Amino acid sequence: MTTNTVPKAQEFLQRGFSRRQFGRIATLLTAGATMPFYNEFAMAQDAERQSKRGNRRANDPDVVRISSNENPMGPHPEGLDAIAKIAPHGWRYSPFGEGDDLLKMIASVEGVPEDHVATFAGSSDPLHRASCAFTSPTRSWTMANPGYGGGAPAFIGSKVTGVPLRPDYSHDVEAMIKADPDAGTYYVCNPNNPSGTLTSRKDIEYLLAKKKPDAVVVVDEAYIHFSENAQPSSDLVAAGKDVVVLRTFSKIYGMAGLRAGFALGRPDLLRKMNPYGNGRVPVTGAACALASLKVKSLVPERRALNKRIREDTFAYLEKKNIKYIPSETNFFMMEVGRPGADFSQAMADNKVIIGRIWPAWPTKVRVTVGTAEEMKKFQAACDRVMS
Ligand SMILES: Cc1ncc(COP(=O)(O)O)c(C=O)c1O
Repeated sequence: MTTNTVPKAQEFLQRGFSRRQFGRIATLLTAGATMPFYNEFAMAQDAERQSKRGNRRANDPDVVRISSNENPMGPHPEGLDAIAKIAPHGWRYSPFGEGDDLLKMIASVEGVPEDHVATFAGSSDPLHRASCAFTSPTRSWTMANPGYGGGAPAFIGSKVTGVPLRPDYSHDVEAMIKADPDAGTYYVCNPNNPSGTLTSRKDIEYLLAKKKPDAVVVVDEAYIHFSENAQPSSDLVAAGKDVVVLRTFSKIYGMAGLRAGFALGRPDLLRKMNPYGNGRVPVTGAACALASLKVKSLVPERRALNKRIREDTFAYLEKKNIKYIPSETNFFMMEVGRPGADFSQAMADNKVIIGRIWPAWPTKVRVTVGTAEEMKKFQAACDRVMS
């Protein structure tokens, strides 16, 4: 994607935004970075600021940070090599066309035409753009509750409709359509954050069949590679459906601080998202992502290691009679039988920083799967706090 066509105020007023709400969006269009950054790290920072545990984690090597679904396996050595090679050329916007190379590689790996791919510095960026492009005060962002991704549409003044997950923690797609048959976007996080559970292809197809013709299904696949059973939706994009798929290199690829991600969608849908931001993938992020995609063993090896550590942690929880949701990702929800914020604070006092709490599940907390050593420390802290 290259040039931006800036939407006119009139267009937003026609979509039901007030002048004040349009003002907010306009600052996005002109200043680029004024939308608060809604990703796990930003939200974990907010949660910490609101609690007493504030600065506790900063620069303390003894502190275990398993709060933002980062991957301690880090960038792949091939990716680090690529960064070292490209960094001295970072004075150019695009030293050797690595951005184009990354886009071509993604198209080939995902089986979609190149014009169905747009690269970004992570996937929060296209998520924010999708909320600006496809939702409004009258055309909602309909999502799971608890779920992820409602911050940006709420910020711009769009309607956000949260629908409880089914008892098996999949998205209740019938209830989503019923809750708002006229939604602008049905957002499916697959696997879902924070439950770590899957929504089937059949359910995604149900949304596509039942939605209004101009609505879009956004499938956020930030954690898809951690699951052995998930079915990616890239083929729905290739088939020309009203689907936008979001991916990030922040998770299994271990590049959260390096920033790379992408959206897959029909060119007309990507074009609608185009105006709402001005970020590029940094050349270091592009080079690292490209090199990582070439390492075919990366995903299966990391998925297996994460699974081993996650299952070891689940065995511990079972031994202690602590209920948890059987996640397929690098994080899980556990039941702590008291306000989650109190438990998190007590864990932080024991130098283990865990993740956020969702209002729909006030006595559950989210924990990221860290290294085997970190999870032993988590278990020890949990023993102390639970006793
Ligand atoms: C479900 C989901 N989608 C998207 C993101 C965006 O991550 P990033 O902006 O680091 O690519 C995250 C992580 O924070 C996430 O959990």
